[in-house]
Amino acid sequence: MMSPMGGTAPTSAADGASAEDVDGLEAIMRRGGSSLRERMLRIERHLERVTAGAGEPLASHATGTVLAGGKRLRPLLVVLAAESAGGPGEGAEAEDSLMRAAVAVELVHSATLVHDDVIDGAQLRRGHPSVAAAAGRKLAIATGDLLFSRAFAELARNGEAAQLRALSDASSALAEGELLQREDAYAAQVEVARYLHRCELKTAALFEAACRLGALLAVNGSRTLAEELGAFARRIGLAFQLLDDVLDVSGPVERTGKARGTDLLDGTVTLPFILARELDPELAELDLSSLSGPLEAERLCTRIAATGALDEARDRALTLVAQAKSALPHSLPDGRAVLLDLVADAVVERYR
Ligand code: IPE
Ligand code: IPE
Ligand code: MG
Ligand code: MG
Repeated sequence: MMSPMGGTAPTSAADGASAEDVDGLEAIMRRGGSSLRERMLRIERHLERVTAGAGEPLASHATGTVLAGGKRLRPLLVVLAAESAGGPGEGAEAEDSLMRAAVAVELVHSATLVHDDVIDGAQLRRGHPSVAAAAGRKLAIATGDLLFSRAFAELARNGEAAQLRALSDASSALAEGELLQREDAYAAQVEVARYLHRCELKTAALFEAACRLGALLAVNGSRTLAEELGAFARRIGLAFQLLDDVLDVSGPVERTGKARGTDLLDGTVTLPFILARELDPELAELDLSSLSGPLEAERLCTRIAATGALDEARDRALTLVAQAKSALPHSLPDGRAVLLDLVADAVVERYR
């Protein structure tokens, strides 16, 4: 997947190639028409500005992170959720509230990525050196903090406590999820339920907040719709993390931009490894902290794949996506329901 705003879609796509030929998110942009594209462009422009005013060197790191790309999946969910509930309403101020909510979600996401790379010791993010790798832990922590604070400053301008609550609940969940993951690092045993709980906290909660925010600020939005769209997003968010964890083991590096087994090397016990341990007794004995380096991690990935654990993890994710789609409320305007369906498909697309 690439950013729907990235401008890197094959030119043949613009010339009318079939939707299967192009990136799933770009296909959604085309189906969504000019209003969706215009809204996503406004969000993009605002993202460019929003961190630029902070002092240096934080402004450069924050702006660099936000502008390095990213699929903009969460802001897209904010917009589609709002559109599925009648849109933000008439006038520039209504459009601005939608834009600010979408920007706030992307800023929280970017903040967590910067902090995540400190915790995981990751070298690369969005194809560039992570802030932690380029500038060190302290500056990376401060950059993440700046992105968080800008996110809430943006959303506060909407003046709605319920919106702030939705985003702050997700941020707290994210922090808790990352902490649980660290607690489980190198653990000899992690229950599947515990792993899923961690993923709900660290990833699904922000997907949920994106849809909740969209529904909350829309003209026909209601608490019930916010719940329903939130539940949809929660499931696809969980599937998204499961598949990200599968990809860490399956690679290939040309697709992921990082070596296979990066999670395992930093001690993160993910679903493929949990399931593989149940299937291969020798893996059950393996202590992740004994991995000597990338080569051994790579060999472990091959071993995990041989157990069939990747297929099982993938199947779980696909089931979640199917459940999410079938639970979408029937009352949504047709076109928008289809677009949300397509977002669910795009989540699994890059893993096929
Ligand atoms: C990466 O999220 C972090 C996970 C939850 C796995 P994305 O894959 O949405 O990151 P960007 O925004 O597109 O870079
Ligand atoms: C997702 O976890 C990160 C957050 C939700 C903050 P990962 O650690 O798997 O994400 P990547 O693989 O670094 O993008
Ligand atoms: Mg990480
Ligand atoms: Mg990952």
